[in-house]
Amino acid sequence: MLIRPIRPQDEKLLREAFRRLTPESVYQRFFGSLRELPAQMARHLANVDYVQRLALVAEHDNKAIGVARYEPTDDPGTAEVALAVLDAWQERGLGRILLREILRAAEENGIHRFRADVLSENARMLRLLATEADIQTRRTESGITTFFFTRRG
Ligand SMILES: CC(C)(COP(=O)(O)OP(=O)(O)OC[C@H]1O[C@@H](n2cnc3c(N)ncnc32)[C@H](O)[C@@H]1OP(=O)(O)O)[C@@H](O)C(=O)NCCC(=O)NCCS
Repeated sequence: MLIRPIRPQDEKLLREAFRRLTPESVYQRFFGSLRELPAQMARHLANVDYVQRLALVAEHDNKAIGVARYEPTDDPGTAEVALAVLDAWQERGLGRILLREILRAAEENGIHRFRADVLSENARMLRLLATEADIQTRRTESGITTFFFTRRG
């Protein structure tokens, strides 16, 4: 497995990986049901500036098996973090590796405060944050918990 920054030519790779996510994982990542990753969205997700927006791809056999990213928020010092690991690869520690790597990469780019929106029933992501993040605040609205945190050193 290789973890590397996303590239503009990964649009197709992202759309293929999306097709291998279960509807439950799609819902947990995107908070809605989508059958396909729309081309325009794939383009946006594959094209980052590597500083304010970054995504790391976990690749196996030339296919994406997980992606972690951060995106700017209204607060310039805070980035929103999101992850997805293909269902067939979940519960093997990849989510933890990707979360650690994306937080480390953000810090190298001068970003030290993070936000994550997590469905309140998403036990795995909640467990990951509980161990990898120092949580400053959390608030829950309509079944989504928003965490503000820093990386646990
Ligand atoms: C959340 C997600 C990224 C985690 O990735 P993963 O590779 O499965 O996670 P890991 O294998 O690193 O495990 C994370 C923790 O969850 C725990 N865990 C695994 N299955 C669990 C379950 N069913 N219930 C509770 N905790 C569970 C693991 O034990 C591990 O904690 P530990 O190492 O302290 O024991 C992945 O499940 C995923 O992509 N889910 C769908 C999309 C999503 O929810 N994204 C998050 C939105 S920000």
